[in-house]
Amino acid sequence: MDKLAIEGGHRLEGEVAISGAKNAALPILAACLLTPDPLELHNVPDLRDVSTMLELLARMGVRVERMGDRVRLEARQIEQALAPYELVKTMRASILVLGPLLARVGEARVSLPGGCAIGARPVDQHIKGLQAMGAEIALEHGDIHARVSRLRGAKLVTDMVTVTGTGNLMMAAVLADGMTVIENAAREPEIVDLASCLNAMGARINGAGTDIIRVEGVARLHAASHRIMPDRIETGTYLCAVAVTGGQARLTGTSAAYLDAVVDKLLDAGCEIIPERNAIMITAPPRLRAVSVRTAPYPAFPTDMQAQFMALNCVAEGTAVIRETIFENRFLHAVELSRMGANLRVDGNTAIVIGSAELQGARVMATDLRASASLVVAGLAATGETLIDRIYHLDRGYEGLETKLCALGARVRRVRG
Ligand code: UD1
Repeated sequence: MDKLAIEGGHRLEGEVAISGAKNAALPILAACLLTPDPLELHNVPDLRDVSTMLELLARMGVRVERMGDRVRLEARQIEQALAPYELVKTMRASILVLGPLLARVGEARVSLPGGCAIGARPVDQHIKGLQAMGAEIALEHGDIHARVSRLRGAKLVTDMVTVTGTGNLMMAAVLADGMTVIENAAREPEIVDLASCLNAMGARINGAGTDIIRVEGVARLHAASHRIMPDRIETGTYLCAVAVTGGQARLTGTSAAYLDAVVDKLLDAGCEIIPERNAIMITAPPRLRAVSVRTAPYPAFPTDMQAQFMALNCVAEGTAVIRETIFENRFLHAVELSRMGANLRVDGNTAIVIGSAELQGARVMATDLRASASLVVAGLAATGETLIDRIYHLDRGYEGLETKLCALGARVRRVRG
């Protein structure tokens, strides 16, 4: 298994290009199932999760062409409406094919995603919504087996804000008979990006970006071309990486527009941030101030940035309280950060971090995608070498991580093994 070796203590400086958003690309790739016509996507990040989704689509009979960051998909015929266990277990977002398959061919068999490192993560809201739209759903041998002659519009209210749940139901609704209203919808920018791609394909969606989304079903979708939005979590991660090294950098191909909560915290920490039209400039002070964060659905502070801010607080001045309200087990990075000399305590969904002037490089283990990112941030700030094991987690969500960090002056190398 590959490892990442980081020699800490080097100030990050320069320019780095941000890739397309993983969490926008995955549902938008699945959206190709809704039409027999081609869907052309630009700014698709080169990530393991994207390759997994493309493999899943190809197995269903979708013609996939990939050239750099451009992907052309053509689902002329769905040969197999099936998402098998071996793919779903490596990527929970495979559940995103359920809504489109049901809408297009009236049947789908998707392996039920199990628990994952950061919590139980059920998909009951996806199932409940599809049932309300007339689908018959049975759990058979670990698979969700869904059938319907044609989905019909319905009023759906999710019990909690769910991002992939909202995306799945929105995709199901675009070909349903009549109007669907999704209440308590996720307001994440990736949902807005999905809706704008679907609308370019001929869907009639209103209200994406608010908590009430209205979808008027249409008989057919058509060909379209769409550019995936920038990855706000990758952006936030590089901002943290620059911040902990007291560096200065310009992140291009991205925007501060979707990052208000994160930018506010970096300003509180003492960074200077200048938003540009398609870029963000950050200048960090020699020593950061501790900042408390509480995760919640967008537009509040994202759970996907919680781990990186824990690392940042480990080297800041003062004490920070970190509250995780989305996932029940998302502090796995805390023990690893302790191995690097961090002074922190976890109690339920709260972590208290007492900043120290120095972290020490150590051998640590990546446990999930964003936890791994926090170990990278910590490693960049630490003295000596940090060796991060199991970095396949990072490859799921960060395109060219070591190349991008090295371009900023970090000393990072991948150790094959
Ligand atoms: C998405 C993101 C992930 C991010 C998360 C929260 C993608 C591919 N992934 O994950 O990066 O961390 O949003 O911003 O976009 N829940 C249920 N039942 C359901 C659905 C969700 O109980 O049917 C719960 C989950 O266990 C969790 C909360 O709702 O506690 C939010 O989950 P959700 O927004 O669905 O997360 P994902 O869409 O899986």
